[in-house]
Amino acid sequence: MNIYQALSESYSLLINKSKTYKLDCEILLADTLHIENRLNLFSNLNKKLTEDEINNFFRTIKEREKLKPIPKITKKKEFWNFEMDVAKKVLIPRPETEVLLDLVSKVFKKNSNISFLDIGCGSGCITLSLLGIFSNSQGEAFDITKEAVMNTQLNLKKYHKLKQVKVFKRDVFKFKTHKKYDLIISNPPYLKKSDYINLSPSIKIYEPKNALVSDSKDGTMFYNHIISSYKNNLKLNGYLAFEIGDNQFKKLQKLLSQNGFIIVSKFKLINDQIRCLLAKKIKNYALQ
Ligand SMILES: C[S@@+](CC[C@H](N)C(=O)[O-])C[C@H]1O[C@@H](n2cnc3c(N)ncnc32)[C@H](O)[C@@H]1O
Repeated sequence: MNIYQALSESYSLLINKSKTYKLDCEILLADTLHIENRLNLFSNLNKKLTEDEINNFFRTIKEREKLKPIPKITKKKEFWNFEMDVAKKVLIPRPETEVLLDLVSKVFKKNSNISFLDIGCGSGCITLSLLGIFSNSQGEAFDITKEAVMNTQLNLKKYHKLKQVKVFKRDVFKFKTHKKYDLIISNPPYLKKSDYINLSPSIKIYEPKNALVSDSKDGTMFYNHIISSYKNNLKLNGYLAFEIGDNQFKKLQKLLSQNGFIIVSKFKLINDQIRCLLAKKIKNYALQ
């Protein structure tokens, strides 16, 4: 079997399973053959595959037939300038989260030395990207699951950044510190419990529920806690950066203002929902 035949056969297996079936097959074949750019497949269509390559490739196609997301099959995902390793029980980094980093990149000078706290670090995509932008910075990152902590450490190690970050397993609702940071950043779980049912089967089967679902009321439980309990861990004029869910902006705007913050930038999706916000701490409150 050559590349052309492998692609044709795999297209026919996925055509009714995935809207992006051609792209999926090409990414999976390129990954199996360790070809960096999938377009290179098309200049080698007559190249014969070994028995092992054929078996490995069609095993990945079977996984995709069962709706497994591509990054959960290849165990990697491009994010910012990095190729993130993504573990089985850790959320795949999403493109919206890159926008959050874009907002942050505009308020501190490039390569400045900032101190940051990343709450709910998951794969470590935010922490690693912050170190990509602010290369001399020091940070702390925590998550409630050990898989996320290990995944973050793995990605930091891959890019020789482990020494700059303390990564640990903690619950945001229990962790307390006296440290003061320039930036506290979080993409916490923000779906209402009732929203979970409407997610695609692919997400429900393969993504960790505790990375997505917050409370049953309006999904803002994590923000409420982070704003009120961590505000004293931000330096005056420091920043709080959040990825947020649908219809949460107004409530958070009010809460931020009541706690001494002003919103300095935000990112709106094409459906008019605000997905990311950046707030500056302009008032100090006495420690509670
Ligand atoms: C939406 S994911 C974000 C992961 C990563 N920061 C990203 O942007 O892809 C939320 C993360 O919060 C973590 N998490 C959930 N509950 C938590 C808690 N009580 N304390 C700390 N982390 C928590 C989850 O394990 C998950 O990794």
